[in-house]
Amino acid sequence: MRTPIIAGNWKMNKTITEAVNLVRAMRSELNEVPGVDKVLCPPFPALAAVKELLEPTTIKLGAQNMHWEEQGAYTGEISPLMLKELCQYVILGHSERRQYFGETDEGVNKKIKAALVHSLIPIICVGENLAQNEAGQTETVISGQLKGCLADLSAEQVRGLIIAYEPIWAIGTGRPATGAGANAVIGQVIRGTISDLYDEATAQAVRIQYGGSVNPKNIAEFMSQSEIDGALVGGASLRAADFVEIVRISAQVKGTLARA
Ligand code: PGA
Repeated sequence: MRTPIIAGNWKMNKTITEAVNLVRAMRSELNEVPGVDKVLCPPFPALAAVKELLEPTTIKLGAQNMHWEEQGAYTGEISPLMLKELCQYVILGHSERRQYFGETDEGVNKKIKAALVHSLIPIICVGENLAQNEAGQTETVISGQLKGCLADLSAEQVRGLIIAYEPIWAIGTGRPATGAGANAVIGQVIRGTISDLYDEATAQAVRIQYGGSVNPKNIAEFMSQSEIDGALVGGASLRAADFVEIVRISAQVKGTLARA
């Protein structure tokens, strides 16, 4: 049984003051939803303030990026040593970082290893762009990303990861994948590749989210799929009521409300 996990990727939004207000507006309702791991990923400057607000709750905190070195002459970068005092999760290899900041699978692989050394749980993003999708290259692209990102990791390490399938054409476009479509990619391509690289038990253990234009209206369609364990939510995670609703519906669909 894989525990559902919903993460909010705030991207480059919210000042410290705005972040505090947003967390205050949703933390008690979010905290009450049982059986779902909830993670907020604000921008770096807001992590310390949000950490304090989340301390009395079960809600976890994540960062949106990280360097692989612990310290040194890397102006503008943030290290795993710094993050581990603040948060439990870190998003790695988001398509916006690949597209605008030149991140590669090799770099993501170094970051994953560094995160694991410091007991940060990586949320690793993979996904094809529109041209690749239309050219029928989804499987090749994603299995290539996974092989690069997971290089030299043990099966035990892979079991503890979170993977987010985020088709680039669905991110911020209001054009989500279908539940069945995302389920097929996650089951056949992502779990399939992990099964080939490791074994079937590892493929079944890893938790995999869908991301791309998730909102309160479509979350049930994704969470009712057998291979989908959660969502990485961008735009809708910036609205307290929407994010709470997404988490609540996820708990309902996966049956964790009834089990609590
Ligand atoms: P979106 O972003 O929900 O705004 O489409 C998702 C993401 O990029 O993680």
